[in-house]
Amino acid sequence: MSHRTLRVLFGLALSAAAAGALAGSGTDPADYNPFYAPAYQIPDPALMSTSAARGKDIFRSTYRYLGAESGNVAANGKPYVGNKLACGNCHMDEGTRPYAVPLVVAAIEYADPKFSARENVARDLPIRINGCFERSLAGEMIPTDSQWMKDLIAYVDFLSTGLQPGYTWQQVPGQETRKPAALARAASPTRGANIYNDRCRSCHQEDGSGVWRDDEQRFRYPALWGANSHGLMAGMGRLQTAAAFVYSNMPHDKVNAVDPNTLMAAEDAWDVTAYLLSKPRPFNPRHITEDWAGVGPDGVPNALKRAVDASYDYTMPRKDAAGAWSIDPANPPAFPRSQHIYGPFQPITDALNQARQSLGY
Ligand code: HEC
Ligand code: HEC
Repeated sequence: MSHRTLRVLFGLALSAAAAGALAGSGTDPADYNPFYAPAYQIPDPALMSTSAARGKDIFRSTYRYLGAESGNVAANGKPYVGNKLACGNCHMDEGTRPYAVPLVVAAIEYADPKFSARENVARDLPIRINGCFERSLAGEMIPTDSQWMKDLIAYVDFLSTGLQPGYTWQQVPGQETRKPAALARAASPTRGANIYNDRCRSCHQEDGSGVWRDDEQRFRYPALWGANSHGLMAGMGRLQTAAAFVYSNMPHDKVNAVDPNTLMAAEDAWDVTAYLLSKPRPFNPRHITEDWAGVGPDGVPNALKRAVDASYDYTMPRKDAAGAWSIDPANPPAFPRSQHIYGPFQPITDALNQARQSLGY
C-alpha cells in the first residue's frame, strides 16, 4: 500500500471517529480523551462529589433550577436565567467538548483573576460564571456564596483535576473555537438566510425558537434569537465570537472541529451567523453605560479596548466636531452601527489604534 493510500485511509478513520463521537444527543465525554492526550484526561465520573454532581445538573438544565419558573429570583425580583438557555447549550457536552468553549481547565486558568476591560474588573471563576449569567443567560448574577455557585464551581473544579502531571493548562488543546478566515466585505444576513434554511432550520426551527424538552426543562435545540436566546451583550451576541462558535460546531450532526474536514466554508459561517445577529434578542440597557467604562490598570481607558463587534451603544471610536478622534460618547460614532454588527472589522480596529495613538496611550 502506498503512503498516500495509507494517509487517505487514516484520514477516513479520523472522520469516522469524529462522526462516531457525534452520534446521538449525549456524547460520552470520554470520547475526547484521545484528542486531549497527553495533557489532559476527562476525570472518572465516579470521583465526582455530590456537590459537583449537582453542579453538573445545574450546568445541563440551568433554566430548571434558576429560570423564571423555578421560584428562585434575584433580590431585584428578576430570574437568574432571563432566557431559557443552559450553560451546556454553548459549553457543549457539559463543558468537555473541544472547540465548544470547554471548561476543562477553567478552574486553573482563573485561579489568578484575569482583568477584563469590558467589566473593568479582575475576574475570578465566580465573577466569570456570573458574566455568563448576566449576558449569555440574559439574567442576573447568582450570589457568590449560594449553594448553586458552590456546586457549579465544584463541577468546574472537578473537570480541572484531569490536567495531567507535568502539563500546564495552556498546553491543553481545543480551548478556543476555530476562527474562520476574516472577510474583507460585510457579512450578509440575506445570503445567510438561505444557508440557515438549508442547514439549520431543521433543528433550530424557522422562527429560531428551537425545540424545548419539557422532561429536562432544557432545549433539545436551543433558541437562536428572540426572548429565549442569549443577550446582545454576550460574547455570542458579537459576530466574531458567534461565527467562530458556529464554524467550529454547527450543524451539530455534521461538524466536529476535532476533524477540520467537517467544517463549513468560512464565508458561510460569517453569513449564517450574520443572519442570526440580524434578529432581535434580549438586551439590558445598563450595558450601554457600564461596559468598557473606566480606566484599566495599565492606565488606558477601557473604551479604547472595546470589542469592535459589540454593536450596542457606545460604539468606539468617536469623532469630535473638528474631526479629531475621541472616546467621549457625546460625540458621534466614527462607523455606522451596521458595520459594528456585520463588519468589515479591520477598518474599525485600525481606527481604534489611531485613536489610541492620537490620544497619547
Ligand atoms: C449563549 C452561550 C453561552 C451560555 C449559555 C453560557 N456561556 Fe459561558 N461562555 C460563552 C462564550 C462564547 C465564552 C467565551 C468568552 C467570550 O468570548 O465571551 C464563555 C466563557 C465562559 C467561561 C470562561 C472560559 C474561559 O476559558 O475563559 C466560563 C467559566 C463560563 N463561560 C461559564 C459558564 C457557565 C457556568 C454558564 C451557565 C451558568 C455559561 N457559561 C453559559 C458562551 C456561553
Ligand atoms: C442536527 C440538529 C442541529 C442543526 C442542523 C444545527 N444545530 Fe445548532 N445546535 C444544536 C444543538 C443540539 C445545540 C446545543 C448543544 C447542546 O445543548 O448540547 C446547538 C447549539 C447552537 C448554538 C449555540 C447555542 C445558542 O443558543 O447560541 C448556535 C449559535 C447554533 N447552534 C447555531 C446553528 C447554526 C447557525 C446552524 C446551521 C449552520 C445549526 N446550529 C445547525 C443542533 C443543531
